[in-house]
Amino acid sequence: MHEFTSHETGSRCEAGASARRLRRLRGSASLRALRREHHLRVDQLVQPIFVVERESDAGPVPSMPGVMRHALASIPEAIDSIAKSGVRSVLLFGVPATKDEQGSSAWDEEGVVPRAVRLLKRAAPGVTVMTDVCLCAYTTHGHCGLVDGGRVLNDESLVGIARMAEAHAAAGADIVAPSCMFDGAVAAIRASLDGGGHGDVGILAYAVKYASAFYGPFRDAAGSSPRFGDRRTHQMDPANGDEALAEAGQDLAEGADILMVKPGLPCLDVVRRLHEAFVGVPIAAYQVSGEYSSLVAAAERGWIDLRSAALESLVALRRAGAGIIVTYFADRVGRWLDEAEAGS
Ligand code: PBG
Repeated sequence: MHEFTSHETGSRCEAGASARRLRRLRGSASLRALRREHHLRVDQLVQPIFVVERESDAGPVPSMPGVMRHALASIPEAIDSIAKSGVRSVLLFGVPATKDEQGSSAWDEEGVVPRAVRLLKRAAPGVTVMTDVCLCAYTTHGHCGLVDGGRVLNDESLVGIARMAEAHAAAGADIVAPSCMFDGAVAAIRASLDGGGHGDVGILAYAVKYASAFYGPFRDAAGSSPRFGDRRTHQMDPANGDEALAEAGQDLAEGADILMVKPGLPCLDVVRRLHEAFVGVPIAAYQVSGEYSSLVAAAERGWIDLRSAALESLVALRRAGAGIIVTYFADRVGRWLDEAEAGS
């Protein structure tokens, strides 16, 4: 029997006699399956969809290979293929034909998102339709709300944010997802939905959203980059962890049904802390555009295997405590899981 001495502790161990041999349960695919703690399921994933009002804006997103900007006319076809992949929830982002200082096309009931919601609901009534609620794609300056003297206003912006949510609910959205990180946005939306007879419409709050460098490709896709300044006066400082609990607690108290953390992989600790602090509240994580594009770009260079790296990132989010994951890979995961299973 092999013996060794740990020089650190000075204690002698008999490796062969050790009662614990963790490798024992890794010896075959079926044992690994038996021992597996966390699983990725396609119906826990949410597929983001970009929809453009102007047909000429449709097409592939150069900084997000594999992701499209859909014209309204192609929405039924797009949802058909998403539903076939097993994904049962989508998150809509609109790209309007017109922008102004206030972002008023955001609450137009005939605007791009309400129209897309109606098309989605007609084509796939069983699919949960979520809509992003933020003004940045609708304002000429690209900020998430009203701007005065270079400052992004909070309370004054909530009126437009609540009207936008209301327009989405009226079109048939199941869940609205405020991503602006303005104080009081969830309460304002809840009051407006309830007042408008949309008490059943839920709120997925981007409760913990960092001012992250990983949103770049999304801003290309949504045409939502700020013309000046940045979003650091309302999105969170990536150096902060405790503050995430304050943000999440606040949104929950204001009526959020689901709490989301964003970005995903850089925030595994935050996902875990929310999962433990808010037992029973669904926690979502958003694997954002920059995470997606980094993986795709490295895979295009042959440096990583896209399927394994994507699945590993997603199961890591599950392990951290995310019950729901928003990911641009959603519609590929079902096929990947089958392939990975077959090859294991
Ligand atoms: C809108 C919004 C953004 C994202 C989701 N909603 C961009 C931002 O805050 O600048 C980012 C999503 C992604 O990067 O995939 N405010």
